[in-house]
Amino acid sequence: MPSQSQRKGIIIAGGLGKRLLPSTYSNNKHLFLLYDKPMIYYPLTTLMLGGIKDILIVTLESSIESYNKLLGNGSKWGINIQYSIQDEPKGIADAILLGEDFVGNSNIVIILGDNIFHGNHLYNLWELSDSFDNGSTIFAYQVSDPERYGIVDIDANGFVLNIDEKPKIPKSNFAITGLYFYDNSVFNRIRKLNYSSRNELEVTSLNNSYIKDNLLKVNLIGRGMAWFDAGTFDSFLDASLYIRTIQSRQGLMIGCPEEAAFRKGWIDRYQVVNLADTLRHSQYGDYLYKILESNK
Ligand code: DAU
Repeated sequence: MPSQSQRKGIIIAGGLGKRLLPSTYSNNKHLFLLYDKPMIYYPLTTLMLGGIKDILIVTLESSIESYNKLLGNGSKWGINIQYSIQDEPKGIADAILLGEDFVGNSNIVIILGDNIFHGNHLYNLWELSDSFDNGSTIFAYQVSDPERYGIVDIDANGFVLNIDEKPKIPKSNFAITGLYFYDNSVFNRIRKLNYSSRNELEVTSLNNSYIKDNLLKVNLIGRGMAWFDAGTFDSFLDASLYIRTIQSRQGLMIGCPEEAAFRKGWIDRYQVVNLADTLRHSQYGDYLYKILESNK
């Protein structure tokens, strides 16, 4: 069974972000400021908290320079970040396929670049990832607006029947979140998919191919955890306000890669000070000094 450190992660951060036009004419939405840090910091930190150090970011060519400036190759945080270009938004499964060489023989964890997870239950998800061996494990979350998501249909015995992408008449209120564990068969499966009516290789078709082979587990994320898909103006604002509320109440940051790297022991105090120095005069920089103070 692969250990967490052998597992590789892919952040899907391309797409045109049409629902956020006109701002997305000139900027990749995953670089937008979600409360006090770029949106990409949140999924990146989620992967880091799961012990994943090898990470591929799939994005548009026009954004590569900005990502390089912001994240570089990840060495400042003790991780390895690589990039792959998706020329056209041909779907989430198409973006995953671009990671085939990067992934090699490993199992993979995929996270969507606009998905924000927060809460203790996250650690249970990563425990599941420890025992994850073959097939696929994905996560469902109860929502009040199921028409926006991939929705899972489960029978009375808890058996997963099917997933419908943005159904007009949803069969449940359980949305599939943008965190997916896949075994290495994922690439061959994607190659066998057909394009959907909106001309995309859909992640939902990929998940249905695992269901067909009885190889998909859906875990329900409890109500004590927060999950946002920040792909619309309202959900973007909801997520930003949530981050602001929790952070100001606790004095602790959500989605801070420096802190995750420090707590994992991937960077030392000296490196954190250097990073904080480059962020001087910002609340973010002050926070990094504070972490060091409280961890003497
Ligand atoms: O957030 C969870 C939902 O994400 C799931 O419930 C749905 O099943 C899944 O299809 C997806 O739905 P969205 O409508 O939110 O997908 P969206 O088009 O917003 O794309 C999700 C992320 O993937 C976003 O950060 C942009 C990126 N993306 C998308 C496409 C279509 C790419 O990088 N390349 C693409 O071709």
